Amino acid sequence: MDLSIALITCSDTRDVDSDEAGAALAALVDAAGWTVVGHVVVRDDRERIASEIVHAVDELAADVVITCGGTGLSPRDVTPEATRDACERDVPGIAEAMRAYSMSKTRRAMLSRAVCMQRGRALVVNFPGSTKAARENWEAIADQLEHAVRMAAGEGH
Ligand code: MTE
Repeated sequence: MDLSIALITCSDTRDVDSDEAGAALAALVDAAGWTVVGHVVVRDDRERIASEIVHAVDELAADVVITCGGTGLSPRDVTPEATRDACERDVPGIAEAMRAYSMSKTRRAMLSRAVCMQRGRALVVNFPGSTKAARENWEAIADQLEHAVRMAAGEGH
C-alpha cells in the first residue's frame, strides 16, 4: 500500500537546505516504499503550522502528516497547539508509544509534548526536532501506519 506522507519541519533556525531531520525522514519514507507529497520548513508560528497541516491534508491529500520540532517546553514550542487547532480527534496511543519507545533511548523523551491526532481521515503526528529523535520516533510507529490509515478510511481490521 502506498502512503502519501507530508513533512512539516517547525523551526525558527532551519531552512530547506539545513533541514537534516526532514531529509532523514524523507529518506525513511522513501525506503518504506511510500511517497513524500510535501516537505516544507516553517517558523515556530502556531497559525502558520496549523495552516500547513490543513494544506497538507485538504490540498495535498496526505494520509499522514509528520511535523518535526517545536514539541518541547520553550515558549516558542507551539507545534502541539497548532496540531490541536487543525485536528479533531486525539490518537493518544501513538503519542504514548512514541514516548515509551523514546524513553528507552533518552530520559529527555519526557520533555516532548508531542501529540497525535486525526484531521478527517488523515493522521497528524508530532516528532521532536533533532535528527536522532526524528529517526527514533519513526522507528517507534512506522510499522503501524498502514494499518492506521486503513482503519481511518473505514476499512476496519
Ligand atoms: N525522543 C527521542 N526518541 N530521542 C531524543 O533524542 N529528545 C528529547 C525529546 N524526545 C529526544 C526525544 C528532547 S532533548 C526534547 S527537548 C524534546 O524531545 C522536545 O524536542 P523538540 O523541542 O525538538 O520538539
